[in-house]
Amino acid sequence: MAAGAEYDLVIRGAEVAGGLGRPLLAADVAVVGDRIAAVGDVPGRGGVEVDGTGKVLAPGFIDVHTHDDWAVLSEPDHACKVLQGCTTIVVGNCGTSVAPGGDRMVAGGGGFATIGGYLDHLAANPASVNTAALVGHGSVRTAVIGLRDDRPATPAELAAMRAHVEQAMADGAVGLSTGLIYEPGKYAPEAELQDMAEVAAAAGGIYATHMRNEGRGLLDSVAETLRVAQRTGGKVQISHHKASGRGAWGLVTQSLAMIDAAIEAGVDVMADQYPYTRGSTLLEQVVRNGGLDGTSEEEDLTPGQVLIGAAPHHPEWEGLTLAELGAQWGCTGREAADRVLEGEGRACMVILDTMTEADVETVMAHPSTIIGSDGIPLGGKPHPRLHHTFPRVLGHYVRERHVLDLPDAIARMTGRSALRFGLVDRGVIREGAFADLVLFDPAAVADTGTFADPTTVPAGIERVWVNGVCVAADGAHTGARPGRPLRRG
Ligand code: ZN
Ligand code: CU
Repeated sequence: MAAGAEYDLVIRGAEVAGGLGRPLLAADVAVVGDRIAAVGDVPGRGGVEVDGTGKVLAPGFIDVHTHDDWAVLSEPDHACKVLQGCTTIVVGNCGTSVAPGGDRMVAGGGGFATIGGYLDHLAANPASVNTAALVGHGSVRTAVIGLRDDRPATPAELAAMRAHVEQAMADGAVGLSTGLIYEPGKYAPEAELQDMAEVAAAAGGIYATHMRNEGRGLLDSVAETLRVAQRTGGKVQISHHKASGRGAWGLVTQSLAMIDAAIEAGVDVMADQYPYTRGSTLLEQVVRNGGLDGTSEEEDLTPGQVLIGAAPHHPEWEGLTLAELGAQWGCTGREAADRVLEGEGRACMVILDTMTEADVETVMAHPSTIIGSDGIPLGGKPHPRLHHTFPRVLGHYVRERHVLDLPDAIARMTGRSALRFGLVDRGVIREGAFADLVLFDPAAVADTGTFADPTTVPAGIERVWVNGVCVAADGAHTGARPGRPLRRG
């Protein structure tokens, strides 16, 4: 602390969002060390004084749905998240985690034997953001049974899988995730999901699921998820709630009604969402599930709807659709897909134009929805959600479209997210909470990334602090890495 100063940092006169949805209040916020020391009229001086007049001060955004497991190690500055105001990420979504031993969906190779080993590694090699981890059912199933075994687990295998999840929960994982369109998650019958989710629930963790079908079969998937929730009695999180493919548009009205009915019946269910009408996944998964052959149970795609986002060995393909590549190569778009897969395999991520704006807004407006980017940190033209999810909600959906009011939108990125994932003293601005903070200009905050140019810096995010340390100022990273692993308490 500077001589004569009572606080390390005081941010003065901003409109403060507490993180739980109540109206903003003009106040000063003072920080000592890594914690908020005072909120209100703060007469004492700060070693650093920041003028927040005309700005909003919110808890740092919590990205509850990420695939940043490896990126936070290989690029610990993690600018894609820090520069949009994120101070905490939850990794291990969609069934894939670094432990036990997996490396799918996130590049980098290798692996960790346990979630505990991963969190220890993060403690020794800090990143700029705080990191909480889910353990992925797909990674557990791969370790015990294998990636491509289309059969139920034996009782001995089930016991071994349970032991992995128990270990992860004991290590401080915040819950379990599944990815039921991917290998090997899609081979797991409902009973296996119940069995695994039960272990997470018994430890007080959440069960987050990328459901079996987000297209025509959306409602059956939601029903399955709610049955699991009912049986385990634990928290359940529907990942990236959406209706994908023209044949499914509008189904979210019914899936939301099912969620409402379940909540009324005492089921603890919520969902997360990214604020775009395009999705992103592995090209391999699209092809394998018959998406380009008219045989998918989820949705049918045309080659023009499939844009290459990551092709690390052939960056010249990035930013082109399968239809455009086919035209270049003198083949059909379907043949182009095979050629891309030959060259890239599991490294190829695609962006799929599959949703409708009305559904995105309907889901966002529902009280069960919180925000998560589902960004995939791979390739030269990743889906812009990786860099722009939170500014896009605040700019496009709050300021321009009025889908949510500002305090409510902030709560869905902070306090409600922390509560959901068991992150203690995070996601709120109050005395004693950790000083994870973001100062932004509510008139200017906006996503600036496009599908052609997705990795730009968002507008209007002025300062970001993690554990009391400034990690970003005026759109530039400070180089500080004060992030910590967050273990479920
Ligand atoms: Zn997913
Ligand atoms: Cu995901």
